[in-house]
Amino acid sequence: MHPMLSIAVKAAREAGRIINKGSNDVGALTVTAKNFNDFVSEVDHTAEQSIIDTIKYAYPDHGFLGEESGDTNKDAENIWIIDPLDGTTNFLHNFPQYCVSIALQQKGVLTQAVIYDPVRNDLFTATKGRGAFLNDKRIRVANRGKLQTSLIGTGFPFRDFTHLDTYMAMFKDMIKSTAGLRRPGSAALDLAYVAAGFTDGFFELNLSSWDIAAGGLLVQEAGGIVGDFQGNESWLTTGNIVAGNAKIFSQMLQVLAPHLTPAQKTQIA
Ligand code: IPD
Ligand code: CA
Ligand code: CA
Repeated sequence: MHPMLSIAVKAAREAGRIINKGSNDVGALTVTAKNFNDFVSEVDHTAEQSIIDTIKYAYPDHGFLGEESGDTNKDAENIWIIDPLDGTTNFLHNFPQYCVSIALQQKGVLTQAVIYDPVRNDLFTATKGRGAFLNDKRIRVANRGKLQTSLIGTGFPFRDFTHLDTYMAMFKDMIKSTAGLRRPGSAALDLAYVAAGFTDGFFELNLSSWDIAAGGLLVQEAGGIVGDFQGNESWLTTGNIVAGNAKIFSQMLQVLAPHLTPAQKTQIA
């Protein structure tokens, strides 16, 4: 395993221990609302600090973009993009679907990815050019060719309703065009599931880079395609993301196309 990936794995497993400990009694945790329907617990903060401490100890000159602590040393060549707990709403309800997501971006290129599901002890990893793995076994995206028989993951707006009508129109057409849609509640794990072939594709709009950086690289290293709603490369910055194998990806784009807002249509590749 690449040395930088193994540090990230160590950090993710430690964060997983903090999350599992917190899950024993979520009622006892201090929880605050950042915004409408946007809760953060002491577990999110402690897990993020632990990840940063572990990586910083090994790589003192690296920078960080963490969901809870923001940017540190943002002009560094190496930036770690961290979501310490993706699926906080699930976690706070003891719904067992959440994860730790850590990605490394080197000079703007995603090179390392770790997604750790502490409930199942599932570790998804990828290094650019070296493939994607689940618990050390190579994973590939599913090879299904028809969207109509595909199982597709998604996430719908629940905090910011600006794009709710656009999303609902997309959702309606996707329901009719697929074998089923799932909304598990953790975008990072949703992408890991595409990489592992558990689902055939994924789409969601308006996500943050920490939700999708690691998952996006996992899908690419598992042989899949990741793009924005026009199939271009701005997915990490716009947060509008579609993922799947090449055939499913292009069929999903066709379903989404009639519903794109003018802003989504003019996204730059
Ligand atoms: C959220 C989850 C969810 C997605 C939200 C994200 P958080 O992350 O990934 O599936 O629909 O948009 O913000 O807040 O639990 O880290
Ligand atoms: Ca998240
Ligand atoms: Ca989070």
